[in-house]
Amino acid sequence: MRQSIRFLRRGRVVEIGGLDARTTLLDYLRLIERSVGTKEGCAEGDCGACTVVLGRLRGDRLSYEPVNACILLLGQLDGAEMVTIEDLASPEGLHVVQEAMVARHGSQCGFCTPGIVMSLFALYHGDRPVSRDHVNDALAGNLCRCTGYRPIVEAALEACTTPPQDAFIARRATTEAALAALDDGEDVLAEEGDGFFAAPASEAAIAELYEAHPDATLVAGCTDVGLRLTKDLARLDQTIWLGRVQGLDSIDEGPEALSLGATVSHLHARRALAALDPDLGELMRRFGGVQVRAAGTVGGNLANGSPIGDLAPALIALGTTLELRNGERIRSLALEDFFLAYRKQDRAPGEFIRRVVVRKPIAGAAFRCFKVSKRLDEDISAVMGAFHVALEGRRIASARIAYGGMAGVPKRASAAEAAIACASLDEPASWQAALEALSRDFTPLADQRASAAYRALVAQNLLFKALTEIASGGTHETRIGAWREMPDAAE
Ligand SMILES: Cc1cc2nc3c(=O)[nH]c(=O)nc-3n(C[C@H](O)[C@H](O)[C@H](O)COP(=O)(O)OP(=O)(O)OC[C@H]3O[C@@H](n4cnc5c(N)ncnc54)[C@H](O)[C@@H]3O)c2cc1C
Ligand code: FES
Ligand code: FES
Repeated sequence: MRQSIRFLRRGRVVEIGGLDARTTLLDYLRLIERSVGTKEGCAEGDCGACTVVLGRLRGDRLSYEPVNACILLLGQLDGAEMVTIEDLASPEGLHVVQEAMVARHGSQCGFCTPGIVMSLFALYHGDRPVSRDHVNDALAGNLCRCTGYRPIVEAALEACTTPPQDAFIARRATTEAALAALDDGEDVLAEEGDGFFAAPASEAAIAELYEAHPDATLVAGCTDVGLRLTKDLARLDQTIWLGRVQGLDSIDEGPEALSLGATVSHLHARRALAALDPDLGELMRRFGGVQVRAAGTVGGNLANGSPIGDLAPALIALGTTLELRNGERIRSLALEDFFLAYRKQDRAPGEFIRRVVVRKPIAGAAFRCFKVSKRLDEDISAVMGAFHVALEGRRIASARIAYGGMAGVPKRASAAEAAIACASLDEPASWQAALEALSRDFTPLADQRASAAYRALVAQNLLFKALTEIASGGTHETRIGAWREMPDAAE
């Protein structure tokens, strides 16, 4: 058992014991390390001013991913290399990304600039080719209020389209060896007073620790829990971070299902989900910004029980099951049965999600899912609709239809499902009963995102749109962009 966390910083191992579990990475940087180049804007993961980059071994390859330091716990650095804005320039000059930002006039007041440069640094170290779409996507989690994005995008295209060649590439082998040496397979328990930050290394170790401390807070990516710290000033004295658990971040594909470990990040889930259906890929691309996708996990998204979480409706429509573990006991539960009431899930004290088993779309069926939000990128849904329609020729044999944002939980539209069975794709009039049935399935609420009437209308329109697309076999008439044909982004 290790009683400290360890991470790599500027080529050296930093070891911290006696850890206050609530310390965010941003507080550590600004108040303890005094690296104040990383800024605090919103303190809720939206503006990207606090973006830093973490290097981690993915398999045996070093991968650089941007994260929001304001909603990441310091303890989550364990086993990673941390790169901040102070580390990019060398005595010989600025980093190529910084050079391009200067040359293209990509900064005015400069407040957003460190975060933008760090997002571009991660893009610079990512896959090639890099297109304008990829640049826009990489910057969706960074707000700039004064420069305007044109010069920033031009700087990115100038810097990030050629093969990466910088000091980080030159010392890559050394960094990889240092990170491999940090991966000691030990459970971590860093205590301070009555509190602790624990990072178990195995599933059995979490099961034992969580059973003994069922009031502790589980943390996966911390993109939700982090807001409890920064906005609610919650006292989370005992935290169990799942990010070191071996195997909990694996993706296993079988002939009928995709099994995602609970800590698979949205960034890594995207490719596998996109392979099941392009709409799932686009849903994941629109999930937060890259920083949120790099930290946030599939298990955390379902466990938080949000009625407007994006994954739940899509996965319910596909017929997903959860594997939950409590001590030695493992049980399977249909995802739709996990959500009992607003923010109340079927999860006993000491129980956690270990895997999310996504059934692949059935042969001969059509799948569609749509997210409706005020902004296209980096926004939470007002309504999310998912439709899995089994066909017999031009007749609808059955359908699984699920919505988010329409009730206190993500929920199936059972009245609409019953009403659409036997309808014909060639007769839109036969869809009417299902559209009307939605008003029996849901009594939506009004809030800042949308009025109840808007939600009810959008839910009908999404079902109509899905059936129209499935009937025509195309998407162009119904979409602003032809997203189902867009190539995979370089993430
Ligand atoms: C700026 C921003 C943008 C966002 N955009 C979106 C969006 O577009 N769509 C969307 O759906 N959400 C969005 N979110 C919400 C959030 O990012 C997601 O819900 C994310 O998937 C949460 O995962 P996490 O790993 O960070 O969870 P955490 O914050 O670590 O945990 C969330 C909750 O789940 C519990 N938990 C975590 N893992 C487990 C487990 N394995 N078993 C049991 N309990 C567990 C935790 O105790 C906690 O209660 C956004 C958040 C932010 C800050
Ligand atoms: S300060 Fe805005 S995302 Fe962190
Ligand atoms: S340069 Fe001022 S906010 Fe971007």
